[in-house]
Amino acid sequence: MFDTIAAKYDFLNDLISFGMHKSVKRKAIKRVCLQKNDKVLDLCTGTADIAILISEFFDNEINVTAVDFSENMLKIAEKKAKNHKNICFIQADALNLPFEDNSFDAVFISFGLRNLQDLDKGIVEMKRAVKNGGFVVNLDTGKPQGIWGNLFKFYFFNLVPLIGKFFCGNFSAYKYLPESTKKFPSPEKLVEIFKEAGFKEVKNYNFIFGAIAQQVAKK
Ligand SMILES: C[S@@+](CC[C@H](N)C(=O)[O-])C[C@H]1O[C@@H](n2cnc3c(N)ncnc32)[C@H](O)[C@@H]1O
Repeated sequence: MFDTIAAKYDFLNDLISFGMHKSVKRKAIKRVCLQKNDKVLDLCTGTADIAILISEFFDNEINVTAVDFSENMLKIAEKKAKNHKNICFIQADALNLPFEDNSFDAVFISFGLRNLQDLDKGIVEMKRAVKNGGFVVNLDTGKPQGIWGNLFKFYFFNLVPLIGKFFCGNFSAYKYLPESTKKFPSPEKLVEIFKEAGFKEVKNYNFIFGAIAQQVAKK
């Protein structure tokens, strides 16, 4: 599915988030304690927004490995990141990472965890790949409540698939997007899941009244 939407992925992301996804991603990255020359993994990198933003914050003086299993997403990512020689792209499965244990100072996954076929296995792999004292950072949809929550749900479940059909010619992929949030755990539950997986400190931060949430888990 991601191969089929890759060409229009960035355009649709800008459109359906009213351009807000980039500023949320920037804020989410700033919150994590990173340093020059750190080794960072961006899992489910898609078109490499996170990898590029991290790279820009550190004037390319940080090592970013960006992983995705979609060839078409990676082709676009590589084009976008052509001026960032510090980003290395690898086509691989997030559930079976080709890295040694304790390889990275931080592992990011942005709007990716929800799509993994086995969420627990994904978390185990991320924990394995990050060093002791390092961070796993998840950014994904949250569970907004109240009137805003209802408005958001209406927009997300009814209008987003139509926008996807109109601008991308792909109703089913943009129907899948809201549907995939239904079974995705709430931010509070994700905090518990990260703790149960053995992370020492886990914090949650909400964006846009809870429409997006970030968990930062320290190994
Ligand atoms: C919604 S996109 C997120 C892209 C980007 N991280 C962002 O924040 O915009 C999800 C990405 O996860 C990738 N993906 C899903 N399951 C994967 C897996 N098991 N291994 C590697 N990549 C995966 C898809 O190919 C897709 O590019």
